[in-house]
Amino acid sequence: MDKPKEIRGKFFFLFMATFVFLLCLAMRTPRTYGSVPQPRRASDACPSRTSSETITPLNNTKHLLVSAYMDRREAGSDVRIIGIFKRDSIRPLHCVFCCAGRLSSTTPGTIMQHSDHFGFPYATTDVMCRIPRDCNATHVDLLTQPGRVRPLHQSWLPIRNQKTNEKKKTEEFQFNFTVCISNLFGDYNNVLQVAQSLEMYRLLGVDRVVIYNTTCGPDLDRLLRGYVQEGFVEMVPWPIDRHLNPSRGWLFSQSGGDLHYFGQLTTLNECVYRSMERSRYVLLNDIDEIIMPYRHDNLTAMMDALQRQHPHTGEFLIENHIFPKIHFEPSRRFHLPQWDGVPGVNILEHVYREDPDRGSYHPHKMIVQPRLVVWTSVHEVIEKMGQRFKVPMDFCRIVHVRVSLRGSLTLDQLNVDKRLWDFQEKLIPRVDEALGRAGLLLSTEGRS
Ligand SMILES: *[C@@H]1O[C@H](CO)[C@@H](O)[C@H](O)[C@H]1NC(C)=O
Ligand SMILES: *[C@@H]1O[C@H](CO)[C@@H](O)[C@H](O)[C@H]1NC(C)=O
Ligand SMILES: *[C@@H]1O[C@H](CO)[C@@H](O)[C@H](O)[C@H]1NC(C)=O
Ligand SMILES: *[C@@H]1O[C@H](CO)[C@@H](O)[C@H](O)[C@H]1NC(C)=O
Ligand SMILES: *[C@@H]1O[C@H](CO)[C@@H](O)[C@H](O)[C@H]1NC(C)=O
Repeated sequence: MDKPKEIRGKFFFLFMATFVFLLCLAMRTPRTYGSVPQPRRASDACPSRTSSETITPLNNTKHLLVSAYMDRREAGSDVRIIGIFKRDSIRPLHCVFCCAGRLSSTTPGTIMQHSDHFGFPYATTDVMCRIPRDCNATHVDLLTQPGRVRPLHQSWLPIRNQKTNEKKKTEEFQFNFTVCISNLFGDYNNVLQVAQSLEMYRLLGVDRVVIYNTTCGPDLDRLLRGYVQEGFVEMVPWPIDRHLNPSRGWLFSQSGGDLHYFGQLTTLNECVYRSMERSRYVLLNDIDEIIMPYRHDNLTAMMDALQRQHPHTGEFLIENHIFPKIHFEPSRRFHLPQWDGVPGVNILEHVYREDPDRGSYHPHKMIVQPRLVVWTSVHEVIEKMGQRFKVPMDFCRIVHVRVSLRGSLTLDQLNVDKRLWDFQEKLIPRVDEALGRAGLLLSTEGRS
């Protein structure tokens, strides 16, 4: 081949590569800093940079900040900052605001540590701030010293939920039901059960599923990406392992580590506030749990009935019921060939339900009205504005297919419960579609 042509080709390639690289750089820059930098006229212009991360270390402390929300439900404060604080190094903090481009004076922050830290050195902690007069606050940050600040050294958090305090009619919410899934971590790859759960949620009337993601398995990653594209699932990056040594357990004395269960308590609260302005109800359950109405066709019909009977209730407790995955329904009619190569549990095959051991603590999960929640734990809301109601189990219970809790029970001591089968006709094709979209169905040979 003739050399000059080849060299010219190489130069052209190099030129194009450089051009594309520069273009990418130019497009990335504003996103990294969240907003266009203000011209450097006055020294107190702000925000010079906003945090684009879900977890932002607070400068000069060991604490982490997550997000800020307008919250005027209690007198004396305007903004709630959700964070993860090292319990033994809590010192006074001062709030500083960005008021439509201008820096504010500082106001003292009120630090409220959540009591359910289970002995871990780090705990979910809220800082309540008061906005100074004449400030239309758009961003907030915390300082260890009051007084003058250097705006370039701040990592501003945008203040969200600016309109939560407006009274809304039921029809005005963007979503009726949001499910909050607190944490994905490790190489969790239970694809079939996740696809079935997500499609069940949708059949029951859920509009949005928010999932906090540290890491997950490769097939689940593909499945979830499909759901994100479609708009049903909202993934929130949760790189807590880059900042702390999160525990896989719930009790410090048993498992050690810095923080309870990958920060589950923080993400649940974050999700409640994230949903406050846009969702009528929030369901706080795990990805392998389905909050299932037994007397109604969907959550809408059930909650309309419950809320009519209990108008002042903001926290509905739902009992957890285990369907052990070692027992299979004998006819195997839902052992479908197209799911053979899909990793994970097929919930339609597990129809035997344990009675809970009423002698021991029996956990619940929840449906809440987010605007009536101040802060929540995993199995109950700790501080709230409405009342609590334990929903009777013939009305609603959690279908939870997993390893048995009471392994000594024999098959004839379990209850046959085929409630899931009532949805199979709609469920199966939808699950197939989601798996197919992710290239996970057996019939789509040679995954690409
Ligand atoms: C804050 O916003 C309101 C409404 O947009 C406006 O009338 C007022 O002048 C603003 N105040 C300041 C101090 O910027
Ligand atoms: C943290 O504070 C130091 C000075 O106190 C400053 O030089 C640095 O830029 C700050 N970093 C961030 C991320 O704000
Ligand atoms: C929520 O439910 C109400 C009635 O219960 C209905 O009018 C409204 O359209 C629903 N909203 C969404 C987003 O589905
Ligand atoms: C979950 O987080 C991991 C680690 O950052 C990432 O590789 C993966 O793509 C994420 N998955 C989804 C669906 O967001
Ligand atoms: C929920 O069920 C009721 C009663 O069966 C039905 O009329 C309604 O259309 C259903 N709503 C949704 C959102 O599926």
